[in-house]
Amino acid sequence: MNILAFESSCDETSAAVVSVTDDRFVIKSNIIASQVDIHRLYGGVVPEIASRAHIESISSITYEALEVAGMALSDIDLVCTTANPGLIGALLVGVNFAKALAVSNNIPLVAVDHIKGHIASAYLSEGDVPKPPFVALAASGGHTAIYKMESYTDIRMIGTTLDDAIGESFDKIGRMIGIPYPAGRGFDELSREGFIEATGDPESFYSKYRKSAAYKSGEMTLPSPALRDGSLNFSFSGLKTAAINLLHRYEQKGTEIPRALFAARYTYEAVEAVAQKIDAALEANPGCDFVMAGGVAANSHLRKRLTEVAARRGVRIFIPPVSLCGDNGAMIAAAGYYEYRNGNFADSSLNASALDSIVTGG
Ligand code: KG4
Ligand code: ZN
Repeated sequence: MNILAFESSCDETSAAVVSVTDDRFVIKSNIIASQVDIHRLYGGVVPEIASRAHIESISSITYEALEVAGMALSDIDLVCTTANPGLIGALLVGVNFAKALAVSNNIPLVAVDHIKGHIASAYLSEGDVPKPPFVALAASGGHTAIYKMESYTDIRMIGTTLDDAIGESFDKIGRMIGIPYPAGRGFDELSREGFIEATGDPESFYSKYRKSAAYKSGEMTLPSPALRDGSLNFSFSGLKTAAINLLHRYEQKGTEIPRALFAARYTYEAVEAVAQKIDAALEANPGCDFVMAGGVAANSHLRKRLTEVAARRGVRIFIPPVSLCGDNGAMIAAAGYYEYRNGNFADSSLNASALDSIVTGG
């Protein structure tokens, strides 16, 4: 079957065509119109501007997705769209476009949760894919949460940030040290420089970092965002506030902040906190595979560290390629396929919602 899927929850408009045979996915097209150049001027996403930009591009990227796939609408068997969570005005564009297209062409429609979509990016691999039950991390601009996938459709949240998300914190702190929005990738690269500067080792810099003089000196001490209450929860606002105070102290002293060393320290605390909670989640769920997904899953240090955590436990880890970590339509098609298999159809009454709908439970 052929699926046409839409994603418009934040600042990327995407339309993708994905073919499925025997539960194996082939991405025929995955067109992404990014708005980051527009939002960069404001240092972050401006919701109203995002909605308008989605409206402007959604028709043309749909034509493009079909054209690149070499298909017509009559070849499409299922339409999927992200319906929640996200920016409400942005979501409404994808939901209404998908709804109109599906209803007017008599094609079944499925609504997809954005987080389930991120996790489903791991199903798009040509190689092995995770088998439920599995543990999943969704690390993005809006989420830092750990989930248990009981099946490809049945999901429970087992840990989350109580305040800021990891990606949002990279974006905000990155902005303060002059990295343009979205700062995640620039932060990743600058941290690499900092780790190498601290250890003098261009290869094993991360594992040697803790023993380095730069780490041990009290100069840049920052708190861990891993909550010490036995839960799988995080708090990134404490780390963020401490980092801002540290930057202010440098400013007050009139000394320039060693940007790379600072970024490395920040990344280290963020990555170690996630590694610690993922390790605990894998311990509590023996025999489960592990998936890491979301925009922040593109982070090179997090990818390496969580690969190590999984290997130590003998757990299979699935990380999508960097090109599928950010928001895209193909992941929505993969998640939507399983909703379709479960008979979870939407109709013309479908509405978008800004809210998370995944239930909590340990
Ligand atoms: O999943 P995503 O595309 O959108 C949301 O659903 O939020 O994630 C975007 C987030 C941004 O905060 C961006 O800075 C971050 O992912 N990001 C990264 C990297 N690449 C993107 N964060 C850390 N390291 C990266 N390499
Ligand atoms: Zn996302």
